[in-house]
Amino acid sequence: MSDDTTIQSVLSEDRVFDPPADFAQRSGGAWIESIEQYCELHAQSIADPEAFWGAVAEELHWFKHWEKVVEWQCPDARWFTGGKINACHNCVDRHVDNGFGDQPAIIWEGEPVGDEGPEIRTLTYADMQREVSRFANALKAQGVGRGDVVTLYMGMVPELAIAVLACARIGAPHSVIFGGFSAQSIVDRVEDASSKVVITCDGAWRRGSVVPLKANVDEALTITDVVEQVIVVKRCENDVTMQEGRDHWWHDVTASVEDECPCEEMDSEDMLFLLYTSGSTGKPKGIVHTTGGYLVHTFLTSRYTFNLRHHQDHVYWCTADVGWITGHSYIIYGIMQNGIPSLMYEGAPNHPGPDRFWDICQRHSVTHFYTAPTAIRAFMKWGEEHPRRHDLSKLQVLGTVGEPINPEAWMWYHRVIGHERCPIVDTWWQTETGGHMITPMPAATPTVPGSCTLPFLGIDTAVVDETGEEQPADTGGMLVVRKPWPSMLRGIHGDRQRFIDTYFSAVDGMYFAGDSARRDASGNFWIMGRMDDVINVSGHRLGTMEVESALVSHDAVVEAAVVGMPHEIKGTGIAAFCTLSGDWKPDDALIDTLRAHVAAEIGAIAKPDMIRFTDALPKTRSGKIMRRLLRDVAAGREAAGDMTTLEDFSVLAKLRSDED
Ligand code: PRX
Repeated sequence: MSDDTTIQSVLSEDRVFDPPADFAQRSGGAWIESIEQYCELHAQSIADPEAFWGAVAEELHWFKHWEKVVEWQCPDARWFTGGKINACHNCVDRHVDNGFGDQPAIIWEGEPVGDEGPEIRTLTYADMQREVSRFANALKAQGVGRGDVVTLYMGMVPELAIAVLACARIGAPHSVIFGGFSAQSIVDRVEDASSKVVITCDGAWRRGSVVPLKANVDEALTITDVVEQVIVVKRCENDVTMQEGRDHWWHDVTASVEDECPCEEMDSEDMLFLLYTSGSTGKPKGIVHTTGGYLVHTFLTSRYTFNLRHHQDHVYWCTADVGWITGHSYIIYGIMQNGIPSLMYEGAPNHPGPDRFWDICQRHSVTHFYTAPTAIRAFMKWGEEHPRRHDLSKLQVLGTVGEPINPEAWMWYHRVIGHERCPIVDTWWQTETGGHMITPMPAATPTVPGSCTLPFLGIDTAVVDETGEEQPADTGGMLVVRKPWPSMLRGIHGDRQRFIDTYFSAVDGMYFAGDSARRDASGNFWIMGRMDDVINVSGHRLGTMEVESALVSHDAVVEAAVVGMPHEIKGTGIAAFCTLSGDWKPDDALIDTLRAHVAAEIGAIAKPDMIRFTDALPKTRSGKIMRRLLRDVAAGREAAGDMTTLEDFSVLAKLRSDED
């Protein structure tokens, strides 16, 4: 949870930025033109969700019309029941059928910069239709059919978008694993999903080095025997071992297949994908998203939140990786349904120099830019001379996602990147929500640095206490969603009870997001942070227990407690407190070893920023680790609050004196 200082600083935030007067004119129009229009539409959408969402769904292509817009029996939602639809058709074929086959769908830029600049590939909707169909046929030839989960562990190359859409085309749910995760993470996910096919790349470019994706898959497959087929995209030309009968090159399996493949007619409630995310307990959970509702929600939020408009020379760029929900919804599904060119960049923001992003914005005339607060803080640190060197005048809307944005970073983004003329849309949502839930409308909503402002149309968010009672203004409470929404998760793969316990048990009949929040007197939402043992590191979710399990899996560590700590760039960093087994020396070498061990177990994003060794961890009389105290110690604050349940005061004294 956020500390008191955060609450103080947001409470005193009184800067309000009205949408720029010339925004609609610069953008070729606005979908939602004023705050009055937003309020009216929001009220209507909440009063009659069936009429509201039904009208949106009419804009998509359905093989068969739905019978009922929504059926809701908490915690189970069913949207557009009886409808038949295909996600790939709506992202690709629909635009070709409408005569836009020659328009750019994906604009891709590779990381390495040669003498002639970086490699750029533009795929039109017609190209996508051909390539996706070809790969869909290749998957079918490997025996993949409706309902078979296909795992994707790839770099940010066009083949990743092609593979995602090929799975959707043939009704095979995809499970994308972020390329920064470890071999063990692949094992956990393919086993949980019983996924027999993995698509990967030889390697991925990252800051001038090759991430050995195929080697990681090979290592994973020495631990699990679930996977039968591996398809490998050649990207970095690094050495890889290909196992006869199991491993196939992408270019081989796509060489001899037809480039036409019909779209499967999927039930609206058929699973579209699984995406694993961290929770407060156990291994990451597979969040289940289905087809019709997810498409409708990501289509509308992309259109309204970014004010995307056909034929206005928009070039939209979301800097996330497709391995996260942001990439699923707002690089691929939502954006492509709107027929807007989606830019995909392969590599790091500071390669070969700290101005790479701004160079990309200039060269590709980016109009819509969506990134995370952690990236903005890094840009601030690198200095404003880098963006200043580039022409950013085409930018219209700036977005942020993943964690609370501190007002300083918001102001920098507004001033240095947006030149004070681009609205900032601070979008609050989650892997589980599938799409935006609370966000400004760029031409309508007055924005306040640090607040994600108001709920999206059709979304009924509230800040409540345990009884479900709404909290008064400026009072913290639990952030809930009181009504179902189309792209809500339909479950946790294989764990019904965990689904109910995690999301629908805190407050009767409502979805509990796991975040605390407050609303100010104007009704704006302010996200205060997670209420569970999940920490948000650089906008990525990690369960403290996952990191603890990784630490204790090393021989040296007997017990570990992990908490979040303030971090200048990451927002939240990881602090680990460990007790050691007898013969291990608590020295710097062991800290390095343990950091490397966690990276090997989970991935580099989980490496603790600080590791402290201690004789014992502070615990309550019932044996629970007192995380609040550890958070204070990690933040260098005086331990505050009630300590009467602390078993061994000397432990705390020892931790604190170690700091001196
Ligand atoms: O704590 C909230 C934070 O990120 C969590 C969701 O993480 P994840 O499922 O990985 O999805 C991230 C991308 C959608 C939330 O519970 N979060 C996300 N967006 C914001 C945010 N916190 C504050 N402001 C945001 N705009």
